[in-house]
This record gives sequence, C-alpha cells and structure tokens, in this order.
Amino acid sequence: MDYNIALIKGDGIGPEIITQAVNVLEITGKKYGHKFNFKCSLLGGCAIDETGVPLPQETIDECLKSDSVLLGAVGGPKWESLPGNLRPEAGLLGLRSAMKLYANIRPAFLFEPLKAVCPLRQGIAEKGIDMIIVRELTGGIYFGKRGRRVTKNGTEAFDTEVYNETEIKRTAKIAFETAMTRRKKLVSIDKANVLESSRLWRESVHSMSLEYPEVELKDMLVDNAAMQLVRDPSQFDVVLASNIFGDILSDEAAMITGSIGMLASASLGNGKRGLYEPIHGSAPDIAGQNKSNPTAAILSAAMMLEYSFGLRRESTAIREAVNKVLRAGIRTFDIKGRDTEQIVGTVQMGELICREINGI
Ligand code: IPM
Ligand code: MG
Repeated sequence: MDYNIALIKGDGIGPEIITQAVNVLEITGKKYGHKFNFKCSLLGGCAIDETGVPLPQETIDECLKSDSVLLGAVGGPKWESLPGNLRPEAGLLGLRSAMKLYANIRPAFLFEPLKAVCPLRQGIAEKGIDMIIVRELTGGIYFGKRGRRVTKNGTEAFDTEVYNETEIKRTAKIAFETAMTRRKKLVSIDKANVLESSRLWRESVHSMSLEYPEVELKDMLVDNAAMQLVRDPSQFDVVLASNIFGDILSDEAAMITGSIGMLASASLGNGKRGLYEPIHGSAPDIAGQNKSNPTAAILSAAMMLEYSFGLRRESTAIREAVNKVLRAGIRTFDIKGRDTEQIVGTVQMGELICREINGI
C-alpha cells in the first residue's frame, strides 16, 4: 500500500536524524511491500529564515493532506531573541494545535543493553523501566492567556493554566485505553493540593475511570512523581499528565532510560493521522557533526507505522533491529557506557539499523 508522509526536518540535528529515519522507513517498506512517499515542509527556525514565520500555512495544509507527519526538532540560539509568538517553538505548538493532536504518547523504555548507562543505582535499573507517559498536548498553560503589564513594582508577566472537562477526559480516555493494552495501571499526575485546575483534572479523571473498572487508578502529586521516578520507576505503567507536567516528567523519564536520544513520541487526535517526533530538541551544539543519535527519530517512525498505519509487524521489526544493534555493543556517544562498546556516528547508526532490518 502507498502512504503519504509529510516530513518536517526542522533545525539543528533535525535534518540528519530524519534522513536516517527515512532510510529505515524505505528499507522497511521495501522488505514488507509498502511504498512511503515523502514530502518536505518547513517548520521552526528554517521556516522563519525562509518565510518570516515559524509555521507557514503551506506546512499546515501539507500536514493535513498527509497520512501522517514525521518531525525532527525545532529551535536554536539563532532565533532565541524573537518575540514568543514568532519563535520556532510557537510553530511546533501551533502545528499540534492545527492538527488537533491533543494526546502525546511518550514511551520510556530501558533497552536491556543500555542498563549500564541508566544513571540510577544498578539495583534500580535491574527492575526495568517500561512506561508510557500520556501528556495532554493542546491545552493548559502552554496555550492559556499570557502577557505582560506594567505595575508599580515594574513589569509583571503571567501565564494561565486553564483546562476544561472535555480536554481532560479525551486525553484521560487515551490513557485508560493504553493501560487496558498493558499492565492496567494508571497514575494520574496533578498538583491538586494547590491548583484548582488540578482539582478539576482529578475529578474528571476519576469520572472517566468509572468506564474502566479494570484499570487501577492512582493519583500522584507532581513533586512526588518526580521523586518516585528516580526512586522506583518500575512502579509506573501508564502515566497521565497535563501539558506542562508531562513535558517535564517525560524528560526525566527519558534520562533514566539512558539518554533522551532514545525516546520517541506520537501525538494523536481523533483520527489516524498523527505527528511523530523524538522528544529531544534540536541540539544545536552537535548539529552537523554526525554525532547525534538517530534512534529516537527511527523509533518515532516505528510508532507511526503502528499507530497511524496499523503495521505492527513492521514496527516490531524496527524495534528489534534497534535492540540487536545495541546488543552488538554499537553506541552513539550519548549512550556510551563501557569501554568495549563501539562508538559510531549518526549515519553509521542508521545504516546498521537498516542492515539489521534487512536481516530479520
Ligand atoms: C517537547 C518540547 C516542546 C514542548 C517545546 C520545544 C515547545 O519540549 O516536545 O517536549 O514543550 O512540547
Ligand atoms: Mg519537552
């Protein structure tokens, strides 16, 4: 079958990791008899340079026409001094919103060969890490009213955390559904001891839980969750969080699996079309040096095959190939643990994964 994929390479290491993910998709397509057509669009800093805005209308149109979108990363020091609504990050938030992708699925999984680079005590890594963070993506403080005003104490700035029941429940539903396919445990994150928006969050999640009596639901305050994640990450199966709490906790969860360079994500709405992107940023300090880890982008492509196209076997083949390359002691510099491991660059990592896919 033919699939049309909108490609957004973005800034920094974005282009080099997306190139590897595209190679992996092409090899996988050839092996299993699918054709992936790619069309590139601009987003973020490169879009600002070319068109003056971080999210050109053509990019939205292309993405909405496509079967799914694969994105690298956006942002960099070059565009940091622009006003907030013209920064590369505003383009990314705008695209998620324009595509109505309200739920962000972020699996944090510790690959067996990477236990040595887990920064937690060895006994903790031994118990394994296998969780999925479901982050609300188009609401909350990242989309609430913000601004500045002059007061007698100088300039004042504000951002607003706003949530309604519909937004909370539709994301909670995805988290419950995800839990049903796994160990049936859901931890919902909030700060209900202080924030009114968190109290509504908690009530809404509880009312949704009536539809999922088999799922064991637990509430956890976000500060405690940050601690529990490093104390005993094996306790988590599915974690549901608001936009900001999910953003923060998913970076923490990524780091304990060895490197943020390993974590993929899927942003979903009501239909099959999604936006797939690594959770790491554009890493401008190592861009263009063949140093970045393409694995998160490659695993994001694997998630696209599974979630948007229903190609489970193909998705598993990619994950298996990543695992085999890691088992063979191949590492990019961010996941180096032991001296016996062989350090390779971005291109070689991608090639070795492609070779494994062919061999499966
Ligand atoms: C992420 C990133 C983005 C976010 C930034 C770049 C806007 O941190 O995908 O986690 O906050 O969503
Ligand atoms: Mg983030």
